[in-house]
Amino acid sequence: MRSPIPDYLAEALGSVEFDQSGATADYIPELADADPDRLAVSFCTEDGRRYSQGDADVEFSIQSISKPFVYALALADRGFDEVLAKVGVEPTGDAFNELSLEPGTGRPLNPMINAGAITVHTLVGPPGATPEARNERIVDGLSAFAGRRLRVDQRVYESEISCAYRNRALANMLRANEIIDEGPLVAVAGYTRQCSLLVTVEDLAMMAATLANRGVNPVTGAPVVPAAVVRQTLSVMATCGMYDGAGDWMTRVGIPAKSGVSGGLIGALPGQAGIATFSPRLDRHGNSVRGVDLFRRFTSDMGMHLM
Ligand code: DON
Repeated sequence: MRSPIPDYLAEALGSVEFDQSGATADYIPELADADPDRLAVSFCTEDGRRYSQGDADVEFSIQSISKPFVYALALADRGFDEVLAKVGVEPTGDAFNELSLEPGTGRPLNPMINAGAITVHTLVGPPGATPEARNERIVDGLSAFAGRRLRVDQRVYESEISCAYRNRALANMLRANEIIDEGPLVAVAGYTRQCSLLVTVEDLAMMAATLANRGVNPVTGAPVVPAAVVRQTLSVMATCGMYDGAGDWMTRVGIPAKSGVSGGLIGALPGQAGIATFSPRLDRHGNSVRGVDLFRRFTSDMGMHLM
């Protein structure tokens, strides 16, 4: 019997297709030029079944959706104590590119904002790892989550690094507070490279499904990170993954999630599935307008809300 799921997903895309509200990110030239009409969705279940519709084979840069996965790698490589000493787990209520440091310690409040993610980037790999080895570990690790070899989009990287003044300012403050112990320019270059990795919505669904499946990729069977690391990562996604839209997201959609400025959005439903959408127009929080709408619909149709 033919599965009804592809028809359901096609119909869901059709229901948001005509919404043209929001705008592509304009602070990174390559993203401002992206086709705003792209629209895609993908599901990957905990037992490895995959369903996609729309522009599911179009590649785009992962941007902030890299943050939870790199956080998971840092926790696996350095342990909870070392990572928590440098980056907190509290939501900010502020935009993703605010400094948002904890008074007293100078730690970034959480790993999903840029200041936290730049810090987390420096905590991947063994202590003293070279920036090149760290970049390689991140490509290898995120590729294991995605079940295929990912690559950096050099044009996106060059475009973002050419105007990364704000992230450099954040990194300088982190260095001044001794939260990072290396050159701010090196940290921002590596972080920007991590954000420039190319993915499809199908890759993102598999990456989210690996989190939903306690750290084991449900398609390749590869163990990527330990279950305790996944629990920490999903918890931070639930409270901080949608930035200053996190409360609204948690009440209305109700699953751990992460957005990115190129228009990707992932949700992980523990023990069940990873879900990803792609639509580049963003709301004022930097979250995909049609992606958020699709997830709201999935929650009301399928009862995904965890509460
Ligand atoms: O650092 C930046 O600003 C971008 N590379 C990533 C920001 C991002 O994706 C925020 N998410 N919505």
